[in-house]
Amino acid sequence: MCGIVGYIGRRDVAPLLLEGLQRLEYRGYDSAGVVITGKTGDLRVVKAKGRVRELQARVPKRFAGTTGIAHTRWATHGKPSDLNAHPHLDNDEKVAVVHNGIIDNASELRARLVAEGAELVSETDTEVLAHLIARSAAETLEQKVRDALRSVEGTYGLAVLHRDFPDRIVVARNGSPVVLGIGEKEMFVASDVAALVAHTRQVVTLEDGEMATLKADDFRTYTTEGSRTSATPTTVEWEAESYDMGGHDTYMHKEICEQAEAVDRVLRGRIDDRFATVRLDGLNLDAREARGVRRIKILGCGTSYHAGQIGAQLIEELARIPSDAEPASEFRYRNAVVDPDTLYLAVSQSGETYDVLAAVQELKRKGARVLGVVNVVGSAIARESDGGMYVHAGPEVCVVSTKCFTNTVVAFALLALHLGRVRDLSVADGRRIIAGLRKLPEQIEQVLKTEPDIKRLATHFADARSMLFVGRVRGYPVAREAALKLKEVSYVHAEAYPASELKHGPLALVEPAMPTVAIVPDDDLLEKNRAAMEEIKARSGRILAVAHQEQEKADHTIVVPKNEDELDPILMGIPLQLFAYHTALALGRDIDKPRNLAKSVTVE
Ligand code: G6P
Repeated sequence: MCGIVGYIGRRDVAPLLLEGLQRLEYRGYDSAGVVITGKTGDLRVVKAKGRVRELQARVPKRFAGTTGIAHTRWATHGKPSDLNAHPHLDNDEKVAVVHNGIIDNASELRARLVAEGAELVSETDTEVLAHLIARSAAETLEQKVRDALRSVEGTYGLAVLHRDFPDRIVVARNGSPVVLGIGEKEMFVASDVAALVAHTRQVVTLEDGEMATLKADDFRTYTTEGSRTSATPTTVEWEAESYDMGGHDTYMHKEICEQAEAVDRVLRGRIDDRFATVRLDGLNLDAREARGVRRIKILGCGTSYHAGQIGAQLIEELARIPSDAEPASEFRYRNAVVDPDTLYLAVSQSGETYDVLAAVQELKRKGARVLGVVNVVGSAIARESDGGMYVHAGPEVCVVSTKCFTNTVVAFALLALHLGRVRDLSVADGRRIIAGLRKLPEQIEQVLKTEPDIKRLATHFADARSMLFVGRVRGYPVAREAALKLKEVSYVHAEAYPASELKHGPLALVEPAMPTVAIVPDDDLLEKNRAAMEEIKARSGRILAVAHQEQEKADHTIVVPKNEDELDPILMGIPLQLFAYHTALALGRDIDKPRNLAKSVTVE
C-alpha cells in the first residue's frame, strides 16, 4: 500500500527519491508524488496519477535540491488522481506532508478548517494535516507537528517539510511503519527498508507514538509528548541485491525459484538431532508452558491464512493439540471467546497487515498469549507479539506471496514438531519428520525442474474462464491456496472445494469448459481422491492432477516427489504457483502488480 521515502543530505534529491519510490512500487499504489526544497527555499511539488515512471516524466529538468520527501498512494479517501496524490500542502505552500494510514476524524477536521477559512483542494484525509501544521502558532516544526497530531485520531506514518525550517524533515509514527536510514552526512526515511537498503543498512525503526527529526548529519527521536527516546541503529539483514530481480523477468518467478534456499534458511540452526526436536528459542515458551497449551488458534489474512490452515493440521497431527486457523479480519469483529489456555499465533509475511495487528492487540488486551509467525524482522506484529518465530523467507517483493507461503508452512512444521516432542510424539516420529524436512530443499529443486511441462499445461488451460480446485484434508488448504494464487495473478475465476463435498454442490458446475485441478497425495485418502476424479470424469470434466504418481483418471498429471505424509502439502503447492504464474504470463497479466491488490494491507 502507500509508501514514503525521504532524504536530507548533499546529493541531488529527486533521482534518489524516484529510485526509492520504484523500490516501493511492489506494495501496490495508484499515484505518486514528490516535493523538494528548491534552491530558493520554496517547496516544489510534482504529482502524477499512475506509475512512478509517469511521475518521473513530469519532473522538470531543473529540479535541484538536497532535501525532499515522496510518496506512492493507494486510494482510501478520494479516487486516484493528480490532485489526491501526496504530498499535500497548505494554502501558503509552507508545509508539505506525505502520509500513510487513515485519519479517522478527517471530515470533522475538514469542516473546522473550512470554517476557519482554509481552502482544501483534494478529497484526501491527509490534506488536513498540512493545514493543521501550518496553522500552529508553535515555534519549532517539531512542536507544530505535535500540535497538529493532538487533534488527529487515526493511524499515521508521516513525513513533513516546512519552508521556514529547510534544515530538517520531521516524521511521526502511529500504526504505520516509519524507518530511518542512517548514512554518512545524509539521512533517509522510508515506510519500508526496501527503499533504503541500496544506500544504508543502518536503520532505526520508530515505535508507535514516536517522532524524529532528521538533519543531514544528525537525527533524534522523541515521543509525541516531546521526551527524548533512545534509538540505537540496527543493521538490516538483507543486502540491496535481495531486492533486485536477479535475471528473472518478474519477482514472482524469482521468488518461486528461490524456495529451495529459503527453506534451507528456515531450517538452519534449528534442528536438534540429539533429542529429535527443534530449538525455537524465540517462542519464549518453556516445556511446561508448551504442555499446558490446550488449543491453538492461528490468525492471518490471504495467503498467510492458508499457510495457517496447513499449520493447524500439522500441529494437530504431530502435537495432537486441537488447532484451527481463521481469517484475522473475521476474528477481530466477532467478539471471540478468548481462552487463557489457548495459544494464539499471528501469521504475516509483512508483519504489518492491519487486521492481523488489530487482532493481536485485541488479544493482548484480553490477556492472551500471542506468538508471531512473521517474515519481516522487527515489523509491527513481530514486536507486538509475546514471542514467535521468523520464517526467514527473505524479502518478498511480488504482491502475491509464494516463497513466504512455503517457508511459513515449513516454520509451522518446526513448531508442530517442537510441540509434539514436549508432548507425545515419539523419538522415532521426530526423526522421521526431521529427515523429511531435510529432504525438502532438494525435492523443491526437482519440482522446479518440471517448469517447462507446467508451462505447457498452463498454456493449454489458459482459455478456461473458471477452474475448480479440489483436495481432501491435507490437500484442501493446498487447493485453496492454489485457487487464490490463480485468481490473484491471472484473474481467472477459481474456486476451491473439499473433494469430499463435490456431491453436495460443485458437481453441478463440472463440464468440459470448467477444468478441475485435483490434489492427490499418495496417502491413506488416495482411493477416495481417485473416486472423486472418477465422478468428475463421468461428467466430462477435464482434470489436471498434482500427485505422487501418474493418475489414470486425470487428463494430465504433475508428479511431485513424495515426502512424509504430513509434509506433502509443502511440495504439492509449488507446481501450482508455477501454474498460476504461467497462466498469467499466457494471458499477458501484470504479474508482480495484479490489478486492485496491494502487497501489504496496512489499513482496514
Ligand atoms: C495482501 C496480499 C496477500 C497477502 C495478504 C496478507 O492481501 O496481497 O498476498 O497474503 O495481504 O499479508 P501478510 O503480509 O500479512 O502475510
